[in-house]
Amino acid sequence: MKAKILLIEDDASTAASLEKVLSAEGHDVQLAARGDEGLTRAQHEDFQVVLTDLRLPGLGGLELVAALHAAKPKQPIILMTAHGTTETAIEATKRGACDYLLKPFEADELLDLVASAVASSRLMSEPVEMGESNADRSAIIGKSRAMQAIYKEIGRVAATPATVLIRGATGTGKELIARAIYLHSDRADKPFIAVNCAAIPDALLESELFGHERGAFTGAQARRIGRFEQAHGGTIFLDEIGDLNANTQGKLLRVLQERCIQRLGSEANIPVDVRVLAATHRNLETAIQEKEFREDLYYRLGVVTITLPSLNERPEDIPDLAKYFIRRYGRELGIESPAVQPEAVSYLQTQPWPGNVRELENIIRQALLLARPFAINLDHVQQVLAKARKPATESSQTHAAYITELLARVRSGEAQDAYAQMIAHLEPELYQQAIQLAQGNQARAARWLGVTRLKMREKLTEFGLHPGREGRSK
Ligand SMILES: Nc1ncnc2c1ncn2[C@@H]1O[C@H](COP(=O)(O)OP(=O)(O)OP(=O)(O)O)[C@@H](O)[C@H]1O
Ligand SMILES: [Mg+2]
Repeated sequence: MKAKILLIEDDASTAASLEKVLSAEGHDVQLAARGDEGLTRAQHEDFQVVLTDLRLPGLGGLELVAALHAAKPKQPIILMTAHGTTETAIEATKRGACDYLLKPFEADELLDLVASAVASSRLMSEPVEMGESNADRSAIIGKSRAMQAIYKEIGRVAATPATVLIRGATGTGKELIARAIYLHSDRADKPFIAVNCAAIPDALLESELFGHERGAFTGAQARRIGRFEQAHGGTIFLDEIGDLNANTQGKLLRVLQERCIQRLGSEANIPVDVRVLAATHRNLETAIQEKEFREDLYYRLGVVTITLPSLNERPEDIPDLAKYFIRRYGRELGIESPAVQPEAVSYLQTQPWPGNVRELENIIRQALLLARPFAINLDHVQQVLAKARKPATESSQTHAAYITELLARVRSGEAQDAYAQMIAHLEPELYQQAIQLAQGNQARAARWLGVTRLKMREKLTEFGLHPGREGRSK
């Protein structure tokens, strides 16, 4: 994701090397050498991220963070500071910086933080149009009854402080809906902090959410302000909440009940005023039965529940979605007049969509590449679908050959997300062999793979591996 970044740094050689790293990623970097100059520019121009040094002529980094946060509360700001001034970095997060970098840092650390700031800036700033097939990147497409009901629910809950649990299968648009709720809420001018609970290792998640004090655990060299504290006054979006571990579930429940957080390593209660939105693709009722999800937390979270329909429940939306993605990717890929033939659209409507809108989006993208410069026809769609759905087990290729081919397709733009594709390709085989070897004993197979039993069962269902015949051992 390319971003427009303002870099405020007075040291010319540091500025030059940071600019080099960022531009190499495709970012558009603007430079300011003084704090006051940087503040003025950031106030008058829109940047996805403002990256500022601490010690600056004209106006210090800390004052800049405070002033800019007051003027533009949703502006992601990253403060760069030298080791030994960690207290300042903490002060900066309190004043509204979304993160900080301790010098010296690696290029990758910088790029990671920038990427997450860009993502949060995108989540916060773009308008959401509901039910309109306009070309806006974040439009929610769909005029079906099922989607109209969703728009009504968004309208009903957005302006309330209610905790909302958004449910739905993978790719149904949960993140999009969370953003719509936020943008239609009375906190739309305040920060929106998104945390993907599944993407953060268990050991780090608690400190990510609630922060920690210096010395709270080995390696906690400085105090850290957690995401809840940062979201104070605004909204936090807890994505993949079904993946929280038991410990964090308990802490989250307390936060929801008491509206206070405790940093790790401290008993002090810090009041937080945060609107909570959560999402999961998991079946939480099953997770509760399996004692993997707390029932009390489930009730606390699901004060309002919005359940998104699968794409197959609303095939009448497929034509609008297809046209929307064709226009969007057509523009992105530089295709002159991207189009699709009506037979191809009708065929898409008859297909199963286990990956829902995300899968449709991918198929359209690939079909566009295959068809260009012509309109997508039935044959293109069938070819792309056949390729995407070829069962992994059919392939007798060696892994190395498979990876070679995958990377070649990624390079030519025919495929994307190589990592996810490789996992999707190999995973069914892993589960099938494990369950066979365990003679159908799911608990044992799950233990071998190092996954939860819930996950085991979900995967077996997903891959059609007869999860019904469960042999449990004690
Ligand atoms: N109604 C819709 N209109 C337009 N685009 C949509 C719609 N629903 C989903 N999308 C698009 O589909 C993709 C997946 O959506 P999103 O990430 O919100 O799904 P999700 O439910 O969070 O999936 P997961 O459970 O896999 O995280 C995104 O690119 C999103 O823009
Ligand atoms: Mg999601």
